[in-house]
Amino acid sequence: MVRLADDELAMLDGTEGPARQKAMELLLRYAEALGAERFVATRNVCGTMGMTMPFLRDYAAKHGSGIEALFSEFCLDSAQALDIPKVKIYSCHLQQGLDPERPAQQYLGPEAVKVYRDGEVFFSRLGVNLLNTCAPYLVGNVPVKGEHCAWMESSAVIYINSVLGARTNAEGRESAGAAMLTGKIPYWGYHIDEDRRGTHLIELDVDVTDTADWGLLGYWIGEAVQESVPVLTGVRQVPNLARLKHFGAAASSSGGVEMYHIVGITPEARSVEEAFAGNTPRATLRYGAAERQLAYERVNTTGRDRAVDYVMLGCPHYSSEQIWEVCQLLEGQRIHQNCSLWIFTARAIKQLADRNGFTKSIEDAGGFLMTDTCSSVGRVVPRGAKVAAVDSAKQAHYLPAIMGVQAWFGTTAECVQAAITGRWQGALR
Ligand code: F3S
Repeated sequence: MVRLADDELAMLDGTEGPARQKAMELLLRYAEALGAERFVATRNVCGTMGMTMPFLRDYAAKHGSGIEALFSEFCLDSAQALDIPKVKIYSCHLQQGLDPERPAQQYLGPEAVKVYRDGEVFFSRLGVNLLNTCAPYLVGNVPVKGEHCAWMESSAVIYINSVLGARTNAEGRESAGAAMLTGKIPYWGYHIDEDRRGTHLIELDVDVTDTADWGLLGYWIGEAVQESVPVLTGVRQVPNLARLKHFGAAASSSGGVEMYHIVGITPEARSVEEAFAGNTPRATLRYGAAERQLAYERVNTTGRDRAVDYVMLGCPHYSSEQIWEVCQLLEGQRIHQNCSLWIFTARAIKQLADRNGFTKSIEDAGGFLMTDTCSSVGRVVPRGAKVAAVDSAKQAHYLPAIMGVQAWFGTTAECVQAAITGRWQGALR
């Protein structure tokens, strides 16, 4: 039985109009299904609520649905198109299904761009911040420790839970859309202290250094612990933002990890005792050279042909530092004529890259810096691409399944080298 506060009851009664009523009804059903006893107020929602994803573009075209009807149906579970009011709290839009600045490159016509532009108008009217990225913490949405949030996107969820100490479950389009209108989310899972406690101890026996290494570690841990809360010990070099971004994205793809602790580094793990907070570890696992080798083989299962025709970087969306790093690696060189280099980032970071001259450096080399989307979400690769190279274990996991390409996984330097030579020469070192 979910206990409802007065303001929740008022929304449920329709006092604040039919859209907020539908949103509260949906959240109540969700809370009941989860066994939550109450809601918690949130002032920070991130979701992919727009209609630019390929399946929704197709649906809208087939049914002739406008954006209010689509929002009503897919975010509020209402068959009837409702007037959608302004959001109640700070709400951000995550990744979109396309980059509106490069339709031709994505084989899109003007109708797809129109869906995107209509969405911009619609969400601006609602007061939504169009961050258009899977990594909103790169562009100003940085929740603080203990802040209750309602975020979608597994790589962002694991980042803010673990690295920032904020509190969210992995929400869906429906619950995020409803939370925007109500400022409420069921109080369960990672909102609750007990569920944030460590479950598995992971002892590192090897140094984990670059971004690819952190991706491998995340991939291995995700497969090993699935949806549990790993606690890592033995990390000797403090990872930067990009490494933790790739680590979390990998762990949430190969398993369903939404929260981890690194003893001495993440905010709820000043000690092993604090990370477990009274829990007895279900298992103690060791990550050494053999486990690292195994993870490398697992991530590279689809790579067979050494001739690479597509290098995709920016999963999760690249930070400004990572774009700078690629520019250093490209310096004065050209992308191979048989290969494409696409790098994905947030629009705000691209604007920074434009001003810093990074975009020009990448384009001078023959590559593209793209925004809002990525190859897996937008379901687009360069025409005819068969063999991709990526520096993201998450992307190596998804891209072959979604786009039917082979994928090699390695370091950023190996990927840039593949873009320049058209050949994969990566190896585990
Ligand atoms: Fe982001 Fe696409 Fe990866 S939306 S996390 S770049 S799969």
